[in-house]
Amino acid sequence: MPAALPHHIAIVMDGNGRWARKRFLPRLAGHAQGVEALRRCVRACAARGVQVLTVFAFSSENWSRPADEVSGLMGLLAKALAREVPDLSRDGVRVHFVGDRAALSDSVRRGLEQAEQLTVGNSRLVLNICFNYGGRWDIVQAAARLAERGQAITEASLHAAMGLAHVPDPDLVIRTGGEMRISNFLLWQAAYSEFVFSERLWPDFDEAALDEAIASYGARERRFGRTSEQVCAQQPEALQA
Ligand code: IPE
Ligand code: IPE
Ligand code: MG
Repeated sequence: MPAALPHHIAIVMDGNGRWARKRFLPRLAGHAQGVEALRRCVRACAARGVQVLTVFAFSSENWSRPADEVSGLMGLLAKALAREVPDLSRDGVRVHFVGDRAALSDSVRRGLEQAEQLTVGNSRLVLNICFNYGGRWDIVQAAARLAERGQAITEASLHAAMGLAHVPDPDLVIRTGGEMRISNFLLWQAAYSEFVFSERLWPDFDEAALDEAIASYGARERRFGRTSEQVCAQQPEALQA
């Protein structure tokens, strides 16, 4: 039996700055290499049959970085979208942006909207780009929307108002760059995700590293609160479904 493939992979793409520093390059050169790594990763995920890829590109807290790095990242996003979206679209990738768009400039916001519109008909791989995103922001904006509509707050209604309501929760969360923390990524949605922490810096994260993470995922038993015996007893039934 082939090892289970994660339906949804989420990645904290960390380590661009250190990648650049090791080469005596400006941090932005590391971010530019990070875009290349993301392009390779999207194609590799699609080739393996992964249905959803969610990436953390800019956090609510990243505004605290030096102004030139922040503006460099905004420029890089606009450039990457203009260059990559036609190819992504041809490859059947549907792009979604998740995060607070209100704080973004008009031109960046237009870029996001155009990328979403251009790829709306695609279904091979859903690519969620978390940009100006924070897990706490997501929970709060969802709760505020429910309150505004006078709706009761339940797990289901909150989930439906959140940024990733259009996809199932991530099966596997990967963080590159060696840090073992969540940094305000999918706080709600990662409740039962499997985690893989890779020492690789994001620009160095290649297909072999992706396959290693997927293999680690495939070797795990997801119990969702049940016992191992219950999980084993249920497996033949799950396979028939
Ligand atoms: C992640 O790489 C990309 C963003 C946060 C935008 P970093 O820029 O955090 O790289 P390190 O952690 O400094 O190496
Ligand atoms: C998390 O990385 C955010 C992104 C990858 C976009 P950070 O580099 O910002 O996280 P911390 O500050 O080290 O926790
Ligand atoms: Mg970092």
